[in-house]
Parts: sequence; structure tokens; C-alpha cells
Amino acid sequence: MPEKILIVDDESSARAGLSVLLRREGFDVKESSDGPAALAVCSTFRPDLILLDIVMPGMDGFEVCRRVKATPETRLTPVVLITGLSATEDRIQGINSGADDFLSKPIDLNELLARARSLLRLKQFTDELENAESVLFSLAHSIEARDPYTRGHCERLSRMSVQLGTRLGLPDEYIKALRRAGAVHDIGKVAIPDAILLKPGPLSEEEIEVMRKHPVIGERICAPLRTFRLVLPIIRHHHERHDGSGYPDGLRGSEIPLTAAILQLADVYDALTTDRPYRAAMPREVALDTMDKETARGWWDLGLFAAFSEMVRNGHPVDSGEKVRRATYSP
Ligand SMILES: [Fe+2]
Repeated sequence: MPEKILIVDDESSARAGLSVLLRREGFDVKESSDGPAALAVCSTFRPDLILLDIVMPGMDGFEVCRRVKATPETRLTPVVLITGLSATEDRIQGINSGADDFLSKPIDLNELLARARSLLRLKQFTDELENAESVLFSLAHSIEARDPYTRGHCERLSRMSVQLGTRLGLPDEYIKALRRAGAVHDIGKVAIPDAILLKPGPLSEEEIEVMRKHPVIGERICAPLRTFRLVLPIIRHHHERHDGSGYPDGLRGSEIPLTAAILQLADVYDALTTDRPYRAAMPREVALDTMDKETARGWWDLGLFAAFSEMVRNGHPVDSGEKVRRATYSP
């Protein structure tokens, strides 16, 4: 499949010149004469690279670039802005709009090809990475679908964990990890037989042992993805308990990564407030009361649970976050 390049320029002669050259090099090329047309082409043509003139009537190149980068389907598509010769300000504004590279007019064709090839290589890597991630997400989805009682659980878990993490002032990368972990935290259940996973009654000792392997298996499945670096500890430790009675490592207190502790509270709350084969969903206050008792028993971090229950009850921000933020939060 030839790589696809979209040329956006209001001057037809400039477009045609670039187009001929790039087609001769084997690329699949499309042209647009203005911003709105280019954005429409993006959604159908799905270019691998966009060459974008800045000065155009109506929507200028900066705005087109901003919109390309703000759209989930095209945010990873590299954009090269075509600027005037000494346009430092254009470059600054271009960087702010998310442009990946610049070319000065008049365009040096060799330079154009070199930059295009290097950006396309990069795009190929991100595509492969995205594919690997989406395989993991689909796998996680299919596991959730095996159990009718957990439908929608991952989605709610992501939302609640992100909400709590944000209230506690966690850096963006940890928030992103929480969102991903909500989807994939139980991915290790792929290795658990249906007879155990879907058993309506209580599990035997041996079955519990098998079930308890899922965090470690999940960590192993996701380990090759570098972008999951901060997600791995959440997967591994989402069943630890504050007093050390959890699994797989029996971590205690601040040894448990804060992100894992956050996801865990959301996980427990969502399980309690959802119908199960052996009991009906608990109302909010009953679930919080149950978790309060578990906190008193030493299972959950006191400050973190206070922040969580406050969030669930009234949606108001936690006082400062400081009282529940641990001195160190390891990823
Ligand atoms: Fe789990």
C-alpha cells in the first residue's frame, strides 16, 4: 500500500508541482484547496502525512493543523507547515498549533522528500503501537463481555479512577495510566477458565488460587508495550490491601502504588453497586458503608477512602488533596 499524502494549498500551481513530484516517488496523493475541504478529506482519505500551506483564505494553516491535532482519528498524523522564508513567528505559532515540521518556500524538493520519509517512518511506528494497544483493548473488552454481570464495568472504572486521580492532583501521565488501566486491569482473566470465572457460588481454595493469578498474568501480557509502563503496576497491584492481606505481593500501606489503590477503590465500589449472580446491587450508601467497615478493618487507605466517598457522595473537590496524597507515589 503506497503511503498517503494530502497537500493543502490554495494555489493550484503549487499543489500541482508537489503532487507530480510525490506521485513520481510512489506516494498516493490528494489535494485540497482550502481548510474545510482538507478536514473533510482527512476523514475519508486518512492521510499518513499532511503538507499544509499557512496562508490560505478563510481557515488558515494554523487552524487546520489545530483541528487535525484535536481530532482523535488524526491527532497522530504528522503535519508539515509550509512557511515563508524567515518566518520565525510562523514557526512559533506552528509549534503551538501542533505542527510536526516546517518547510520553507521555495520548497527544496530533496529536503521535502527527506522530511516526508522520516515523518512517515515515525507514523508507521505509531500506527504499529496503536494497533498493539487496540488489540489489548479489544481483548480486555472480550473478557468483560464473557461475564454479563460486569458489562460496562471497565468504562465506569476508568471514569471514576480518572476523576479521583484528577482531584488528588496526579500528573497527566498517571491520569492517562488510570484511564488505560480501567480498561485492561483484568486482562489476565483471559487465562482463567469460565468454570471459575463465571461460577455463581463461592470458589474453592484451589479455584481462588487460580483466580488470584490474573494480576500477574495481566502484567505479563501488557509488559512488552512501553506506553503501558505506568499501567503495569496498577494491573499487578489492583488487589493488594492496605494491611498487607491482599495479593499478589502482600504489599502494605504506601508500598502500594497510589494509582493501584485508586483503581481498586473504584473497582470495589463498582462491584458492590452492580448486580451479581449471588446478590442484588447495593445502593450507594450501603456500598460506602460496607467499604467504610472494610477500611476500619485495614483493607483500604483511610484518607484515600475519605476522598473517594466524598467524591461519590457529592462530587465536590477534596479539600486540598494534600491530606490524602502520600509523601511518595511510586508509579
Ligand atoms: Fe481484578
